[in-house]
Amino acid sequence: MNLLKRVPIMPFIALEKSHRLHDGYCRRFRVGRTQVLLIHYQGVTHLIGDACPHAGASLKKGRIDQGCIHCPKHGLVFELASGRARGGDVVADIPSLTRYAPERRGDEIGFYTGD
Ligand code: FES
Repeated sequence: MNLLKRVPIMPFIALEKSHRLHDGYCRRFRVGRTQVLLIHYQGVTHLIGDACPHAGASLKKGRIDQGCIHCPKHGLVFELASGRARGGDVVADIPSLTRYAPERRGDEIGFYTGD
C-alpha cells in the first residue's frame, strides 16, 4: 500500500506586498493572458477580473464606493463581495464579475491557481 498521498500542487501567484495595501488601493496586474484588479476596500481585499461582464470594459478606472465598483463605460454597478450586478430585474441577465480568492502568504498577497 502506498502511504504517500498525491497532493495537488497549486502554484501561488504573488501580486503585491501586503503592507502596500491601503483603503482605496486598486491596481491592475497581468497574469498570463488575464488582467486582474487587486482592490482593497474597507479592510477587505478583493481580486476580480478586469473585464466588465456587460461588454468587457476595463474596470480599473471604475469608482468604488459602498462595496461596489461602477463600470466607467455604461455605469453598471457590481458588488465586490458577490460579483453580482445591482439593479434588480433590469440587470438579471448580466453575468457576475469574475472573482478570485486573494490569499496572503507571508508578506505577499496573491492567489492560488487551480492548475
Ligand atoms: S461595459 Fe461595463 S457597463 Fe457596459
